Amino acid sequence: MDEIKELLDKALQAVSEAKDGEGLEAARVRFLGKKGELTALLRGMGQLPAQERPAFGARVNAAREELERAIAQAKEARRADERARKLKAEAIDVTWPAPAAAMGALHPMETIQRQVEQIFLGMGYTVAEGPDVELDKYNFELLNVPAGHPARDMQDTFYFTDSMLLRTQTSAVQARYMTTHRPPIRIICPGRVYRADEVDASHSPVFHQMEGLVVDHGITMAHLRGALDAFAKALYGDSARIRFRPSYFPFTEPSAEVDISCTICGGKGCRTCKGSGWLEVLGAGMVHPNVLSACGIDATEYTGFAFGIGLERIAMLKYGISDMRLLYENDMRFLTQFGR
Ligand code: DAH
Repeated sequence: MDEIKELLDKALQAVSEAKDGEGLEAARVRFLGKKGELTALLRGMGQLPAQERPAFGARVNAAREELERAIAQAKEARRADERARKLKAEAIDVTWPAPAAAMGALHPMETIQRQVEQIFLGMGYTVAEGPDVELDKYNFELLNVPAGHPARDMQDTFYFTDSMLLRTQTSAVQARYMTTHRPPIRIICPGRVYRADEVDASHSPVFHQMEGLVVDHGITMAHLRGALDAFAKALYGDSARIRFRPSYFPFTEPSAEVDISCTICGGKGCRTCKGSGWLEVLGAGMVHPNVLSACGIDATEYTGFAFGIGLERIAMLKYGISDMRLLYENDMRFLTQFGR
């Protein structure tokens, strides 16, 4: 009986000294395993006198149960310790300030297109769009530029076939629109246009235009002037002025290049306007009667004006951007200046 007590004390001691789950398992094997020390006591029971065996057996089994309980408790305690340590190590302080999420922002070309749209929408225009892959018919023919016309050389065109091309101008949309709509017409047509130009500070093979077209009874060049003057003032402020210079476009007669008073120096003359005080921003004119007729509109009854704005130029002047390539390279150091 003393031997049992001693062995149990030794075993409980081993359990309490075990450092981890492995140590506990080693203690279990050492005392309770098949060849364990407590198991050995039970095996040796046969040498005892028969009448002592029941009491001895009961005592060993009690010791065995006590030891099993101690081991189970110790294992549970280790697990609890482990869990507590993990919780502490992985704790998240929810009161910490959160890192700000990086927000996207509109590209300056998108912003300028929306601004220009808003200005004309406010004057009662609606937005009309056409395809980038266009028929020669809409890009040139209906616009009074038949095959072989020298004006085709003004725009270096990407052709797919003889009759299909990448539109070189949003003027194609006015031709499309006039073949399917009757006056009164008052539209703007924003979009990408394509020309086989080398890339430099002011050229790109893909760029953006905004076409404008108004056709109704009694439309005159004064209406054109009024619309563009209102546009210039809305975009660049009340001190902005415009001027018309005679020019040539096959689809308008008369035609004009339209300048805006320099947005940098206000008209005094600076490097941006090359000392002239004026910046060329768009082409415009009275829709040529040939164009109206070709699109099925009675040119004896209706007149109209049209204009084509280069949106990159407008954006560069508005934001003080000196190189057009910046608008296409998508360098984050450039883009984040327009909000993030
Ligand atoms: N389509 C012309 C161009 O790309 C711009 C233009 C000039 C459009 C005069 C017009 C206009 O509607 O009337 O150079």
